[in-house]
This record gives sequence, C-alpha cells and structure tokens, in this order.
Amino acid sequence: MKLTNFIDGKWQDIGSTEYTPVFNPANGEQLAEVKLSTMEDVNIAVEAAVKAQKKWARVPAPKRADYLYEIGRIMKEKKEHLAQVLTKEMGKVIEEGRGEVQEGIDMALYMAGEGRRLFGETTPSELADKFAMSVRAPIGVVGLITPWNFPVAIATWKSFPAIVAGNAFIWKPATETPMMAYEMAKIFEEAGLPPGVANVVFGSGSQVGTAMIEHPEVKVISFTGSTETGSKVAELGGRHLKKVSLEMGGKNAVIVMEDADLSLAVEGILWSAFGTAGQRCTACSRVIVHKDVREDLEKMLLEQMEKLTIGDGLDETVKIGPVINKNALEKIHSYIKVGQEEGATLLTGGTILNEAELAKGNYYAPTLFTNVTPNMRIAQEEIFGPVVSLIEVNSLEEAIEVNNGVKFGLSSSIYSRDVNKVFRAQRDLDTGIVYVNAGTTGAEIHLPFGGTKGTGNGHRDSGVAALDVYTEWKSIYIDY
Ligand code: ALA
Repeated sequence: MKLTNFIDGKWQDIGSTEYTPVFNPANGEQLAEVKLSTMEDVNIAVEAAVKAQKKWARVPAPKRADYLYEIGRIMKEKKEHLAQVLTKEMGKVIEEGRGEVQEGIDMALYMAGEGRRLFGETTPSELADKFAMSVRAPIGVVGLITPWNFPVAIATWKSFPAIVAGNAFIWKPATETPMMAYEMAKIFEEAGLPPGVANVVFGSGSQVGTAMIEHPEVKVISFTGSTETGSKVAELGGRHLKKVSLEMGGKNAVIVMEDADLSLAVEGILWSAFGTAGQRCTACSRVIVHKDVREDLEKMLLEQMEKLTIGDGLDETVKIGPVINKNALEKIHSYIKVGQEEGATLLTGGTILNEAELAKGNYYAPTLFTNVTPNMRIAQEEIFGPVVSLIEVNSLEEAIEVNNGVKFGLSSSIYSRDVNKVFRAQRDLDTGIVYVNAGTTGAEIHLPFGGTKGTGNGHRDSGVAALDVYTEWKSIYIDY
C-alpha cells in the first residue's frame, strides 16, 4: 500500500517521489509506504487551500457543521475498522483504540454543535447612536502537525474546530502513523467536504513542517509533540509572525494521601502509567505518596503489575502493547541506568522483552522505581514509556511542591477522601488538568485540553477554547 497526499480533493502523487516504510510495532511487519513530501508539495497544497477557504468562509457556520455531523456518522460506521488500523499502526491495545476513535466521534458532534453557536458579543457603546459587537472570523489556511500516539483523536481536536470556524487546513501527520491520516482523508472525501478545505501532506517535520511554518499563507500552526520540537516550531513561527499553538510534554503525577482509597488509587495509577505503554503526554510517570501508606501502596502496585499481560494489542486479552519503535525502546531503557546511578531502587521491570514472539516487536516491561527523590532525572524528564517513579512525602504541602517542581504542567491527580485537601490541591496544583480520585489520563473533548510551563504556550485543544486558536476576533462598530 502506497500512501500519497490528499490535496484539493484528489490523491496526488506529484512533487517528491521519495517514500518511507511504515511498520507494525507489535511484530515488525511492513504495513505500507508513505510519501516523504517536500516544500513543492506543501506549496501546491497551500495554493489549493487558499482558493477553497475563500468560498468555505462564506458557507454559513451551521452548514459547515453539517459536514462534521456527516464525518462523525461515517467514523461511527467505520469505528471498528479505524480502531483496528490504529492498533496495527501504533500499537495501543484495541480497547484503547476504540476509545480513541470514539473521542474523535465525540469531537465531531461537539464541534458541529459549536457551528450553531460561534458566539460573539454585543456590548453597550459609550457613545449615542452607536452599536458595538464582536464576531469570530475565520483565519484562513491553518497548518496542523500531529503526533503518532493519538493519531485520530488529536487530529480531530485540531481539524474539526478549524473546519467549523471556516478555515482550510494542511495536516501533516507523524510519519509513523500515516494510515490513520489516510483513513481520515477518505472520510473527508466521503463526507463531501469541498475540495481544498482538508489537505493531508505526508512527510517529515524538517521538510513539510518547516515549509508550512515558513509559508506566508499559512496563518496558524497547531502543533502537538515533544517540547524539544515544539520549541523549534515556536522559534521559527515567531520569526514568521505565526500564531502558534503548542501542546507538548508532561511529567504527570498521581498524589496518594494517607486517607486515600488505595485500591482505587492503584487502579488509576495502573491505567494512567501503563495504558498506551506510557506513551501519553498525560501519562502518570510519578507517584507522590504519603509516608504512612507508601509501603502498602508499593505492595499493592507490584501485585497488580504482575498481572498485566503484554503483547500484540489486537489480542483482546492483552493489557499493554508495544512502544512505537526501536529508538523509543532504547531511549526508555537508557533511563534504567540513569535511575540506578542516581540511587533509586528498581522494584520491577527495567527490561526490553525479547522472548519468543515478543522479540519481533518493541515491548518494554512495566517498570517501577522507588526511593526516588524529586530532583532525580527519572523524576524530572519525560520518559514516554511504561516507567513510574515513587516519591515519598510527609504532607499535602510537600506533595504539591513536588508535583509543581518540574518544568511541565499538563495533568495531575490526587487521591484523598478529605474534601479540604482536595479543594486545596485543585487550587494549588499548577497543571492545566487536575483529577480527583482518578488517574492523570482520560481527558474528554468538552473541556479545554492543555497545560502550563513546558507543556504549552497558553492555547488549548478541544473544548470551546479550541475555537480561540482557529478564529480571529473582529470588533465591529456601526454608527447610525
Ligand atoms: N485524552 C487523552 C488523555 O487524556 C489524551 O490521555
């Protein structure tokens, strides 16, 4: 299968002739080949998008929204197929794949609703015979750069508000997961979206991403990925006066207080730390635990971790799938030595799994470190794999200080039965998302998604807040 660009409503194999293979991380099987586009391909796509957007902006927003209802309907019809492709291509277990596709369907319905709102404001003027109002105007052509760990959901958080707001977009999906983008482009086509409104250009960040950021007709760049790459996007975007929305890394913690329901906490930690093999920006990679329950929690966690089944995510009984590729495997593994050299105790895991069938894929054992102190590298850096560090604290104040003492600020969680502790924590935890008596993952689409500090630059994906990225406020005064 050769995946080529979707531009101006057509599958176009012009421009670059270079392709790169796409592998199933569960068994190393080659699934497809994807085009590595260049600046020339981007220019063709932008030209089509500029033309299409002019007409698209004139389509009433509730009618633009109708296309999202149709997209959502088709996604629902194809849900199982999409989930299967997703699992094959990036490895997350099929149950999570279904959940992710559902997130996309929810986003379609949610954003379609916004097409009937897109509220502006009217405000009394200080002057007589003057009417003052504001509207949300489309921006033009927007560039979307999405990661491999949520190949459908994150694309919908960006493209659906862009569509409903009257923009056209160029989407550059991660080279590891082009098949999901291909499936989505087919859905845009089937839904009858006017040619040029939705364009998919495959390729690397350095070629396609850079060309999009540098193109004067691309007005917004919405990026989700690592903090390292996001900083480069921001720098280049700044030079070209782009509006740049960044959604980057995390070093998320679950806080377990002495009065917590420990079984509930263990359940939340397991799911947030090891779901998607820890490859979520929201993954729990630190557990900050009160000294009175540290031993019990450690024991209970170890007991449950032993039960986690690892293997190909298409197998319904498997709980943890592979990580994305060999590089990721090596990077995750390198942190084991780092942790041990810094004095942390490895309680379980810390190995690349290469027995029998597992050797064909990229499997890492769920890993737990204890005796971790807040400034160790394993407690500070985003590992993006199934590795958790346990840090013991003496009080809520200390827990909050440890939680906040990292460069990221995406998600946090507190387990406690004390309502006062919970309210103080939600106020003082400096993350964009706070969970109470739930793990750090599982944010839905109806609220703003994003974080503070090294995680983001103030913009949000999803929720009504996403519209702030894809619209321009226009203030209108009418004298009469
Ligand atoms: N919705 C996904 C989560 O919160 C990104 O983990």
